[in-house]
Parts: sequence; C-alpha cells; structure tokens
Amino acid sequence: MSGEDFILNLILIGESGVGKTCLARRFVDDRFDPTASTIGVDFSKKQLSLDGKSVNVRIWDTAGMERYVAINEAYYQRADGVVVVFDVTNRASFEAVNGYLVKVMENSTSDACLILIGNKIDLNENRKVTREEATAYARSQNIQYYEISCKSNSEKNIDKIMTQLCRDTLEVVIRREEESDKKDLDAIKRNSLKIMQAETEKEKRKCCW
Ligand code: GTP
Repeated sequence: MSGEDFILNLILIGESGVGKTCLARRFVDDRFDPTASTIGVDFSKKQLSLDGKSVNVRIWDTAGMERYVAINEAYYQRADGVVVVFDVTNRASFEAVNGYLVKVMENSTSDACLILIGNKIDLNENRKVTREEATAYARSQNIQYYEISCKSNSEKNIDKIMTQLCRDTLEVVIRREEESDKKDLDAIKRNSLKIMQAETEKEKRKCCW
C-alpha cells in the first residue's frame, strides 16, 4: 500500500445466516463457497481504483449471532460505510433490520454511508418480504435498497452496488479529511495571529518606556 492510498472501513451487519460472509466473498473474490457461522468478526480487503484514486477497502464481516452483539458495536464506531443485510426468505431477519439501524445511528459517525440489502433472491418461491415492502421501508429511512443473490449473482449487480457504496464512502472520507485540514489550518492561523498580537503589544510597551 502506498502512502497515497485512501482507506475505507465497511461493515456488514444483520442476523445470522443472511449471507454477510457470502457477500464479502462475492465482492472480494467473486466466489460462492460453503460458509460456517462467523465467530466474532471476519476481515477481508479489496484494492480498488476509483476515479483515479487508489482505495484500500477493509471489510469487517460481523457475526449475526446474539452473543457477539457487544463486540460488533465496537466496530460500528470506525465504519465509514455500513451494509445492513437481510434474507428475503426470512421475515424475522427483515424485522430485525430496524434494530440494527438504531444501533448504527447510536454508535457510528453521523456521516457514515448506509445501504440495505435483501439477499437470496434465487429462492424467490420462498420469499417472505416483497421488494415493494423493503423499498418502502428503506425510503422511510432515507437509504438505498438493493436485492441480490450471492449464490447465483444472476443480476451481476453485487460488484456495482458495493463499488458505488465505496465511491459514496470515499467522498465522505475525502470531505472529512478536507474539513480536518481546514480546522488545522484555522487553528494555525489563530495561533499565528495571537503571536503577532503579542509581539505588537511588546513593541508598543517598549516604545512607552
Ligand atoms: P453469520 O456468520 O452467522 O452471521 O451468517 P452470515 O450472515 O455471514 O451468513 P453466511 O454468509 O455464512 O450464509 C449463511 C448461509 O446462507 C450459507 O449456507 C450460505 O451458503 C447461504 N447463502 C448465502 N447467500 C445465499 C444466496 O444468495 N442464496 C442462497 N440460496 N443461499 C445463500
């Protein structure tokens, strides 16, 4: 990694078994393999070139099992982008989404980019959540909703969705850096001004002696 790389931290959250690990693998290696339930947090990374910028995407794949909830919340704080995943054939996993969004709002930075993903659309005959319902919910939360199948990736949209999220997240990270640079510059200016004023006062006092 060169010193010029941007680093993006993405986290994948959602109930156990919705396909977070499969989504990370599809995005990183374009593979669909058998998976075991994640213990704690899994980590993978992908190098992207976005609009001429070299970007190191770090993907934190959290465990959906209840016992890991406390661990996961610590990762929310450093997330630049958040992917909330549910399984369209599992209504409970959709109903749990709101709880995840609340935790994200409470624990992550306010400018983190968020998207909602409904996975396993290859199992359409077992659907328990319609596209319309999920779209309406996402709209009510002001976030984008996408449907995918990590297994078939028949719509070939996983790479596009994740790359767009990285692009939006990169904008936020760059804006944050610019704001932080501006704050530093303002602080330097304020300090310089104070020093100059102090010097002028000293000069004035010398004249009066
Ligand atoms: P935790 O690690 O327990 O939080 O689960 P997870 O959300 O990471 O789920 P994981 O990626 O391990 O997938 C769970 C199961 O769903 C596995 O058996 C996958 O093979 C299966 N699966 C994932 N995505 C799809 C999909 O798009 N279609 C189908 N049919 N099965 C899928």
